[in-house]
Amino acid sequence: MADPPVTPQESSRSSSATGKVQTINSFGMGRLLGKNAIVTGAAGGIGLETCILFAKEGANVLMADISKPALDKASSKLKQLVPSAHKVEIQVCDVSKEADVKALVDHLDTWGGVDIMFNNAGIMHADDADAIDTPEKIWDLTQAINVKGVWFGCKHAVISLRKHNKIRGSIINTASVVALVGSATPQLAYTASKGAVLAMTRELAIVHAREGFRFNALCPAPLNTPLLQDWLGDDQPKRYRREIHFPSGRFGEAIEQAQAVLFLASDESSFVNGQDFVVDGGMTKAYVTPEGPPLAAPKNNALLSEQVDAIRGTGI
Ligand SMILES: NC(=O)c1ccc[n+]([C@@H]2O[C@H](COP(=O)([O-])OP(=O)(O)OC[C@H]3O[C@@H](n4cnc5c(N)ncnc54)[C@H](O)[C@@H]3O)[C@@H](O)[C@H]2O)c1
Repeated sequence: MADPPVTPQESSRSSSATGKVQTINSFGMGRLLGKNAIVTGAAGGIGLETCILFAKEGANVLMADISKPALDKASSKLKQLVPSAHKVEIQVCDVSKEADVKALVDHLDTWGGVDIMFNNAGIMHADDADAIDTPEKIWDLTQAINVKGVWFGCKHAVISLRKHNKIRGSIINTASVVALVGSATPQLAYTASKGAVLAMTRELAIVHAREGFRFNALCPAPLNTPLLQDWLGDDQPKRYRREIHFPSGRFGEAIEQAQAVLFLASDESSFVNGQDFVVDGGMTKAYVTPEGPPLAAPKNNALLSEQVDAIRGTGI
């Protein structure tokens, strides 16, 4: 006769006795159990934090980025933090090239096809400026990666979902709050690209709704990731000009975006479709923000050194 199922609480007691670490994956309990996911821009920031959470929650993950060394480093980190991960592979892909994106999605044919596509890769170029000073080549490069790259990701995800007769799928496209509110510190090409992502995502959501394929756009506020922080450097006035708009007094963290992406990717969000999903600490709802010290921020998993998939005590 088969053993009765073990609850996480019972298991965490027995695991301390046996020394064997129990994980969400070892219980087959993950929120994305059995789903195949592709994440672009997976080598850092939001992309890497999302891959870590996806793997912890039972997904098979294909990490894609333009930089092979960065991908190697990121996937090693993931495997160190989530030793219970099912399948984790990497593929170099320039999202602005359709052949690369097609090859990326086709790679999942042997896994059973894609279920979750997170079109997250994006750039904000240092030479992006206002209507007068933005060089045309920067405009074109930004649209090629941030808009065309998302279109290619959506297109090949739909082709794959149909090819594998999927009755549901979740596509999440990274936009930005700058597509919702105007900024006096211009980055016109970037802002226009993110507005296009919102409009494209909305239309795709409606077109494919009865196939069960959901499309949502993630709108992060300015974050504590290299994309913005490298650009701000230690220029305190430039930093303060932005921080003051946050009700909590701080930039967002990549992990806070990844948690939202996990929800959008999972079947828990089955009735969430076509949304501009804003994760901004209230920034776009604020007029005058409170004074006082900023709130503490959560730690990004990628900055930790110990396993993050262990079930500890009664918490998961
Ligand atoms: N950081 C922020 O403040 C912020 C705010 C709003 C939206 N976003 C958006 O979030 C997404 C992720 O950014 P992040 O903050 O994690 O920054 P990040 O720079 O850490 O990540 C972006 C990743 O995309 C990759 N990439 C760049 N060009 C690519 C290409 N052509 N093909 C494939 N990969 C490519 C980079 O190598 C990098 O790993 C981007 O779309 C960005 O525009 C970021």
